[in-house]
Amino acid sequence: MLADSFNRRFSYLRLSLTSLCNFRCQYCLPNGNVFLAGCKSPLTQDEIVNLLVAFAELGIVKVRLTGGEPALRSDLIDLIRTVSQIDGIKKTALTTNGFRLKRDVFDYRQAGLNCINLSVDSLNRKRFAQITGQDRFCELMDGLEKALALDWEVKINTVLLKGINDDELEAFLDFAKSNSVGLRFIELMPTKDNPRFFAEHHFDLRGLRNRLLANGWTARANTADSGPAENFVHSNFRGTVGLIRPYSTDFCGSCNRLRVSSVGELKLCLFGEKNYSLRSLLQAPSQKEELQETICRMLRLKAPAHQLHEGIYETRNFATIGG
Ligand code: 5AD
Ligand code: SF4
Repeated sequence: MLADSFNRRFSYLRLSLTSLCNFRCQYCLPNGNVFLAGCKSPLTQDEIVNLLVAFAELGIVKVRLTGGEPALRSDLIDLIRTVSQIDGIKKTALTTNGFRLKRDVFDYRQAGLNCINLSVDSLNRKRFAQITGQDRFCELMDGLEKALALDWEVKINTVLLKGINDDELEAFLDFAKSNSVGLRFIELMPTKDNPRFFAEHHFDLRGLRNRLLANGWTARANTADSGPAENFVHSNFRGTVGLIRPYSTDFCGSCNRLRVSSVGELKLCLFGEKNYSLRSLLQAPSQKEELQETICRMLRLKAPAHQLHEGIYETRNFATIGG
């Protein structure tokens, strides 16, 4: 099984399918894809298969397809089918801004998708448009309703932003009361592109953690592969709450994931810039062993922790790697 020098084990791969996104979330791509348009073309299906077959043999059992916005790829449904049929891949997940959800959610499920994460930063139409640059809230909610009616795992990602949506906490919790959904509150993370926004709107989730505990929520024990989110349950709620707090002490210690960008770069840390292009090793199935050796070698370079506390981070925005 894949492990690094600090004995962390890696069973989960996040694969970006495109660096393009059609939303302009204020903390991520406030001006849209101005710098990224015209970049190298994303990995093809064949390259993706070569990549994932190699990773699956090394012990990756869960793959999340992410972006940018993965649904901008016209072959997304095909890709879901292909990925979920690879030997050893037990769970295929998708992170999406939801813009194709209403139209395609049944097809996603039928193609073999096991889990969907939808980004919803506001339950208020106007505010949703203000945060994302897209007036698509109603459409998104229709898609979410369809998703919730299916038998699979549905999660909602919400980045809590001081002075923007932090007054919606109760509304989000209400949603989790009656819906079997995994709410995940994500603490805003700094990137090279968002310094001013971060300074103004970073909302520390420590207070929320205490508030949940004071209100009858209990922290669910983390298992070896639960990753950096801390999850909470409550007997009066059908849904669960997860907190993703990059500044918390065990965020890095529980890291169980690797990332590959849409052009095939292995990314060892969400905040680091030590990228290594695997693309030349994805051209034929016969390159598998060399690819696997390279991945294992690179993994030994993975640092024990990010350096956010020292104000050090290299990532320009998360649109290239899907968070
Ligand atoms: N901080 C926290 N979360 C972010 N995301 C994108 N950029 C950031 C950031 N700077 C989130 C999106 C989406 C997920 C894929 O990553 O809101 O839910
Ligand atoms: Fe928003 Fe995600 Fe698109 Fe960034 S990549 S603009 S967070 S929808």
